[in-house]
Amino acid sequence: MIYPIVMYGDPVLRQRAKDIPQGTDIKQLVADMFETMDAANGIGLAAPQIGKSVRLFVVDGTGLEDEPDMDNFKKTFVNPQILDESGTPWDFEEGCLSIPNIREKISRKEKVKIRYYDEEWNLKEEEYDGMKARIIQHEYDHIEGKMFVDYLSSLKKKLLKGKLADISKGKVDTEYRILAPSKR
Ligand code: NI
Repeated sequence: MIYPIVMYGDPVLRQRAKDIPQGTDIKQLVADMFETMDAANGIGLAAPQIGKSVRLFVVDGTGLEDEPDMDNFKKTFVNPQILDESGTPWDFEEGCLSIPNIREKISRKEKVKIRYYDEEWNLKEEEYDGMKARIIQHEYDHIEGKMFVDYLSSLKKKLLKGKLADISKGKVDTEYRILAPSKR
């Protein structure tokens, strides 16, 4: 099932999402999240973006051109915990399915160490760097109630205010189905 993507301004995107009770059958939810992410051509999707305030996100970097080494980067992160972030911060223009048509340079640390369960409830602890780390950091922010625009300077935020207000009202062009806060 393809869900509509919840837009910026919805309170669900600002909540700290709750852990999923261990052993819960999440197969359908995970399948739906991959389907929804695919339909929107996303490389990451967090559960709050489909209106569910639980600690779950999926990533798929396998279609990224110019990114070496993404072959196996199609994964599910359940109840993740970032244990450490390290390395030199670097800038990259990020976007977000919940903030369509806005891209801004965001600085993030190079490496991330994360503990999580996969979709079969196997506990994992792994380290990622570069673009993989960035995708994880961005999605992890979503389950903490944060969004990339939070990192912008107050001047940048001011400049984007009108666009963000439009997005919250659903006044934005996308090639995927959206759900604006006012329509929920
Ligand atoms: Ni996002």
